[in-house]
Amino acid sequence: MGGCFRVWQRLAIATLFSAFFVTMLAIPAFSATKKVIFDTDPGTDDAMALMLALNSPELDVRAVTVVPGNVTAKQGLENALRMMSLANRCDIPIAAGAQHPLFQKLITAEFWHGKNGLANIELPPSKCKVDSRYGPDLIIEMVHAAPHEITLVPVGPLTNIALAVEKDPSIVPLVKEVIIMGGSITGGNSTAAAEANIYNDPEAAQIVFQAGWPLTMVGLDVGDKTLFSTKYVEQLGQSHGPVNDFIYQVAHYLIDLAAKFGSDGTPMYDPLAVGVAIDATLVKAPAMHVDVETRGEFTRGETVANRHGAVERNVLHGDRYIIEGLDKVEPNAKVCVDVDADRFLQLFVSRIRGK
Ligand code: RIB
Ligand code: CA
Repeated sequence: MGGCFRVWQRLAIATLFSAFFVTMLAIPAFSATKKVIFDTDPGTDDAMALMLALNSPELDVRAVTVVPGNVTAKQGLENALRMMSLANRCDIPIAAGAQHPLFQKLITAEFWHGKNGLANIELPPSKCKVDSRYGPDLIIEMVHAAPHEITLVPVGPLTNIALAVEKDPSIVPLVKEVIIMGGSITGGNSTAAAEANIYNDPEAAQIVFQAGWPLTMVGLDVGDKTLFSTKYVEQLGQSHGPVNDFIYQVAHYLIDLAAKFGSDGTPMYDPLAVGVAIDATLVKAPAMHVDVETRGEFTRGETVANRHGAVERNVLHGDRYIIEGLDKVEPNAKVCVDVDADRFLQLFVSRIRGK
């Protein structure tokens, strides 16, 4: 007669089950991990970003591809291999990519990152082997193997990403999202107008911004508000382990360097891009149309954002143009304009400490 459960009992059981599943979905550990390809020019802040990505349960790093930027392609590959070995992650493919920007000479930044690009820290030789695949080809292969699942996180010049798009434009609708460290809508760091990653390959950046995929720009606008200071690095000093101690040393190098230029902390440019991949609520990122200047005498490498989403329509009348309306400009990027810096920095410290 109606089985062993009365109606009210069945309702109670159904309610309990649905509450359980809603709760599980709300807990980050139970939401699907995000598959990530990390493209990097390691680089001190790249190192901090990589170790954050490898120590965050929300992310599943599927590959590391190396691009020239802070250091040469050769040095960057060696640095990536040594860091992945330190993190005991030789299971993740590590691939070399472009050897130079698309059209200009490389500009390396040992001035900021140390002679070897890793704060002059000599990590032990790597136990990892370089993957035989070319970085852009690896990106193409992995995106096709996992359509709509891969998030690209490039934190160096966009050369590898542009080469992948140029070689196989069909990856664009198959990539889940692109989250870049790069650009600025409030002035540059390499020049008055250009941020370093864009400045090192403006043509590649314009290809990436115009490709048509979901793109989030984590630029200087938020990186400069996210300063890792002694307050945070001393927390790292309270715990120990190979990754923890390495990042503690890198952070000290960067904070000391920042102090020489009058700042009381080091901007967490690359780590914040990984932070946005972990938790997009860390930033405020309105949609804008962004173009990359490739010809300006003073502005080459500038990410030029249209905040208003429109341009005036100028119509020729005799010897002059008359403004006769506004034409909408479709956004192509979410541009980070604000950040919950302390929440991110606390997250960074807790992940590196393994807490
Ligand atoms: O402008 C900051 C960016 O340039 C960071 O990615 C840093 O690593 C350098 O590549
Ligand atoms: Ca970088």
